[in-house]
Amino acid sequence: MNLKPETLSTIEKIIPRYPQKRSALMMVLHEIQADQGHISDEAMEWVATKLEIQPINVLEVVTFFPSYRRQKLGRCWVRVCRTLSCGLMGAYTTGEVLEKELGCKMGHTTEDGSLTLEWSECLAACGTGPVALVDEDLFENMTPDKLGPVIAEIKKRAAGGVPTPTKG
Ligand code: FES
Repeated sequence: MNLKPETLSTIEKIIPRYPQKRSALMMVLHEIQADQGHISDEAMEWVATKLEIQPINVLEVVTFFPSYRRQKLGRCWVRVCRTLSCGLMGAYTTGEVLEKELGCKMGHTTEDGSLTLEWSECLAACGTGPVALVDEDLFENMTPDKLGPVIAEIKKRAAGGVPTPTKG
């Protein structure tokens, strides 16, 4: 496992805080994802050995909690809210337009790794829906007629025009 030294050091401090090693699983996974952007198969094997559990026990947790990612994120990460307010304001149409214009299906990352497009649940800006996060920046009122500048911004970031903030 090619973890940063500071990540390894944090993990070594986390594990003894728990009466049983296996109880540190979620915290250790969180650190690995913050380091690598996702939880790879290799990482799951590594954690299983480290915490003296079976790889299947790690896989169960990684697949149960939606906050853990098994795939690498694209250079630009777009999340479109589809919870009630945004749904009623047209989020599904917004999603369809983004899929078409960006050439990426919801829930996928483009083959070149430039973009990840996903649905998200409430982003706490329900009064100005549909809303989306582009990396960590919130875009509001994303009705199809107002998507032009947002799509241009996403394409710029996906092409590497803007550094992507930390992804945890
Ligand atoms: S429902 Fe979309 S931000 Fe709350």
